[in-house]
Amino acid sequence: MIHAHITTWIVALILFFVALSLNKSGKTKGAKIVQMILRLFYLLIIATGVGLLSQVSIIDWKYILKAVAGLWVIGTFEMILTRVKNDRRTSVFWIQFVVAFALALYLGFAVLPMSFLHP
Ligand code: HEM
Repeated sequence: MIHAHITTWIVALILFFVALSLNKSGKTKGAKIVQMILRLFYLLIIATGVGLLSQVSIIDWKYILKAVAGLWVIGTFEMILTRVKNDRRTSVFWIQFVVAFALALYLGFAVLPMSFLHP
């Protein structure tokens, strides 16, 4: 499950940047398709995240924060893509993306116990 979780968010990250560059180069149709696939990956990230949560016996605030950070990353993906499409400023959401992503990585890799290195 941890491998599936990592795979889904790495694929989502790649799709996000692909959708972004397609949007910026005016290929809106392609961007739309990639964004649809990206949205499917949101569901997979959440499903694997919830799957991991279900393996935890005592869910403390660190797990809640991890889940919130993960959902926050997904939220910033959507905000950035929508705002790029509408030619609006994205800097505030890029900052949020960096903060949320760093928090998810830190909590996932450094704080919480499950790891793909020693499952
Ligand atoms: C793009 C969003 C997300 C990113 C970048 C992310 C990142 C990570 C990382 C790096 C790990 C640790 C993997 C390891 O130690 O091998 C992890 C584990 C985990 N994630 Fe996520 N995640 C995201 C979304 C979510 C969501 C939405 C949820 C909950 C619904 C969630 C719940 C969990 C849980 C429960 C673990 C296991 C923690 C442990 O006990 O070590 N994640 N995630």
